[in-house]
Amino acid sequence: MTEPTVPAKPAAIPSAPGGASLPEAQPIVRLVAFPQDANPYGDIFGGWVLAQMDVAGGSAAIRRARGRVATVAVDRLSFKAPVRVGDIVSVYAFEERIGRTSLTFRVELWTQNRELGTALKVTEALFTFVAIDDNRQPRPVPPPEG
Ligand SMILES: CC(C)(COP(=O)(O)OP(=O)(O)OC[C@H]1O[C@@H](n2cnc3c(N)ncnc32)[C@H](O)[C@@H]1OP(=O)(O)O)[C@@H](O)C(=O)NCCC(=O)NCCS
Repeated sequence: MTEPTVPAKPAAIPSAPGGASLPEAQPIVRLVAFPQDANPYGDIFGGWVLAQMDVAGGSAAIRRARGRVATVAVDRLSFKAPVRVGDIVSVYAFEERIGRTSLTFRVELWTQNRELGTALKVTEALFTFVAIDDNRQPRPVPPPEG
C-alpha cells in the first residue's frame, strides 16, 4: 500500500429529520457509488464495497503503523443492506486491537441517500493488518504518537 494522503475535511451532509446520523468521526473514504460498480438491478457489487473498506482500514493501519501494512484477515463481515447507485458512501475505521505486529480495525460503511439524506450503516467487518518491512516481513507496531 502507498502512504495515505491526509483527507480533506468533507462537507457536512445533512441527515433526514428523525433519520439515523453518520458517526461523529471523520470518514476515511467518502465517494459516490456509480453505475459501473453495480449489477443490472442497480445494487453495488459486494467486492466493490469490500475494496472501499480495505482502503479505509488500510489507510488507518498505515497511519497507526507509520508505514507499510498488508491485509491478513477479514472477520465478522456482514452486509446488512444494499448500496444503491447514487448513494453517498462514507467509510470509517475504528481501532479495535493493536498486537505486536498486527492491527485490527472495525470498519463501517455507511450510505446516505442523495435526495433524502437518510443515513444507514450497511456493512461492517473486522479488518486485521500486519505491519511489514521492505522485505514483506512482519515488524513491530510502534507505540502511538504523542
Ligand atoms: C502478512 C504476512 C507477512 C504475515 O506473515 P505471517 O508469517 O503470517 O506472520 P505471523 O504468523 O508472525 O503473524 C503476524 C501477526 O498477524 C497475526 N495474524 C496472522 N494471521 C492472522 C489471521 N488470520 N487473523 C488475525 N490475525 C492474524 C498474528 O497473530 C500476528 O499478530 P501479532 O504479532 O500482533 O501477535 C503474510 O501472512 C502475508 O504476506 N500474507 C499476505 C498478505 C497480502 O498479500 N494481503 C493482500 C491480499 S490481496
